[in-house]
This record gives sequence, structure tokens and C-alpha cells, in this order.
Amino acid sequence: MHIESILAHAGCDPDQDQDDATPPIHLTTTFRRDSQGNWPSGHKYARISNPTRARLERVLTDLEPASQALAFSSGMAAAAALLQSLDAGATVMLARDVYFGVRVLASDMAERGHIQLHTFDAHLGLQSGDMAALAAAHLVWIETPSNPLLQITDIEGLANACHTHNPDARLVVDGTWTTPFIQQPLSLGADVVFHSLTKYMAGHSDVLGGALLFRREDDLYARVRRTQETGGAVLDPFSCWLTLRGLRTLAVRLRVQQESALAVARFLEGHARVVRVHYPGLTSHPGHEVAAHQMRGYGAMCSFQTGRSGAETLALVGRAQVFIQATSLGGTESLIEHRRSAEGEASHTPEDLVRLSMGLEHIDDLVRDLARMLNY
Ligand SMILES: Cc1ncc(COP(=O)(O)O)c(C=O)c1O
Repeated sequence: MHIESILAHAGCDPDQDQDDATPPIHLTTTFRRDSQGNWPSGHKYARISNPTRARLERVLTDLEPASQALAFSSGMAAAAALLQSLDAGATVMLARDVYFGVRVLASDMAERGHIQLHTFDAHLGLQSGDMAALAAAHLVWIETPSNPLLQITDIEGLANACHTHNPDARLVVDGTWTTPFIQQPLSLGADVVFHSLTKYMAGHSDVLGGALLFRREDDLYARVRRTQETGGAVLDPFSCWLTLRGLRTLAVRLRVQQESALAVARFLEGHARVVRVHYPGLTSHPGHEVAAHQMRGYGAMCSFQTGRSGAETLALVGRAQVFIQATSLGGTESLIEHRRSAEGEASHTPEDLVRLSMGLEHIDDLVRDLARMLNY
């Protein structure tokens, strides 16, 4: 079945004994045992599993496709569970340009001696200085397009290199910016896909959630599942239901959002007051061909550099009228953000960089808003 059809019916398979056409929400935290002490429903207690969460996890495995999915209380809870499930001192290779929160989490864990951290420029491919870390690596963690520089990494090439040099290394791809509609890393050889459901998947800036999808039901999956069961960072039933509802319109939202991102990137590329545009849909982007091969479209995120100071760039962003000045991404409303000041002192982001998340407004209104901000 095409992914559009899976999305349109997300979670709508019939309940055991009801004829609901759309999914119910199961709020119960505990489940009856029968006279023999068994749990006929297959569920015991909501921290371990819940029918609404199981419904969402089933849909996520169909979309990727994956063999197993776990839904967490936020994207960062999913990232933390994955890192916590490693043995003490395990080696993690982390791409330099990834979501700021993941970088902070991994460096905090490294500082406390929980993991050994090696950072690398994933979009440039593995260099000789990376090979010793790869030989010892348990996880290799990338994001493509990356946040906020939209660097493109060849997932298939990196997966082959990782598995050839170290059969125990697991390649993790943050798929938040692409969703399975645009990119399916497991089919390109990755082992785990990490999603913040908060963004495009739920899609309306009103759910905080995360997920991990596994190519195989292996030891890593068993460890992460145990970390989640014992730690309890599960997605609540209402957020699962809202995410299922959001997923049903993911394909149509992303089609419009990607189209707008390309139009905005082309407008910015031709603007005299913009010194650099980061969008893989532009033929001038160094990762354009790899993106064309591994993505369906080029995503709905874009960033650009103004060549001005941080204060001037922040002032420019403050003049937005249609774009909302806020962090996050993936909602129906377009967002504009000065990333450096949002990330704070530990930021590596250029001070003149502006990040855009495209929403569903008319493209003319978005371009007019950007033109007014830049021409002020
Ligand atoms: C690419 C990416 N990954 C992970 C996360 C973390 O997700 P959450 O905010 O749901 O914890 C974010 C949040 O902004 C993100 O943009």
C-alpha cells in the first residue's frame, strides 16, 4: 500500500468489540487478569503498554517500515533512553551538526563518564581520523538534513561503511525533519530511526512526543524497551491519539510545506541581502544530488545567513508578521527563529543564521513577509 493510504487510515483499524471508524482513547492505567491470573488483553499496566500507544506504535512500524517501534514522552526522552541503554563507557559517534539538545545530552553524559563521545562531520563521509572511533563505536548518530545547517549525509554509504568496519555498530538517523513520507533510513541500511513526534508527525504544535524505530528486534531494542518500561518515559494516551490524528494529514501537509520551502529558498537565493541559503532542493547545495536520491522532495525546513551581526539578525527576525517568531517546527503555522540566541552559550550556530519552518500559509504572504523583513 502507498504511504499516503497508510497515513490516511492511521490507527483506524477496528477495535476488538466496537465498530468505531476512527480510534478510541484508552485511558485506563491497569488491565484485568482472568481467573488463571493471565492478562487476556495482552496489557498489564500502562507504563509497560497501553492499547492507544500500541496502535500508534503499529502505525509507525508500517510507515517506516520497521520491525519494532517505541513511543516516548518526548523526542529527548527517546534519545535519553537510547543512550542510557548502552553499557557504561560505550563509544558514541555523533555528527557535529545535529539538534542542539542531542548534542548537549551526549556531551553531559560524556562529561560524567557514561559514554565516550567522538564527533565527526558526517556529511563529508568518514575520514581517517574517525576510523579508530568507528572500530569501537556502539552507536553512530546522524541527522540528514542536519539541524540547522541542512547538511546532507549519504545514509546508504555511511551505513555500508559502518557495518563493514564494525558489524556491532548501529547507525541511528534522526528522522524528525523528514518523517517516513520523505525519507526511510531503515530501507537505506540504518538500524534505528529517532523521531521527535512533536514536529511534523503530530503536526499541530500541541503534542510533545518521541519515537524510536528499529530495523531488527535485537539486543539494542530489548535494552531500550527495558529502559522505557523501568524508567517510564512513555507517551500518554491522549498524545498518542492526537499524533494518530495528525498523521492522517501528514502527506498533504508536507506536500504544501515542501513546495513553499523550495519557493522561499529560491527567493532568498536571489535576494541581495542574503549571503547564503541552506536548502538541499537548490541545485547549488553541495548535497543536492544525494538528497535527490534518498529523499522524496527536499523537506520543509530552510535556513539562511544575513551577513549581519547577531543583534541585527535578531532584530530582522523580530519584524516578522506572518511567520511567528518561536522555536520548534513542523506545525501548520510558519516559524522563524534566530537559532544562536535560542540555543544560548554552548551554541555552534553562526550568529547571522535564521531558521525557517514552513507552514500552510499562502506562499505569496510568506515571501512578502520575508521581503519586508530583509528590505527594512
Ligand atoms: C531534529 C530534532 N530532533 C529531536 C528533537 C527533540 O524533540 P523533543 O522536543 O520532542 O524532545 C528536536 C526538537 O526540536 C529536533 O528538532
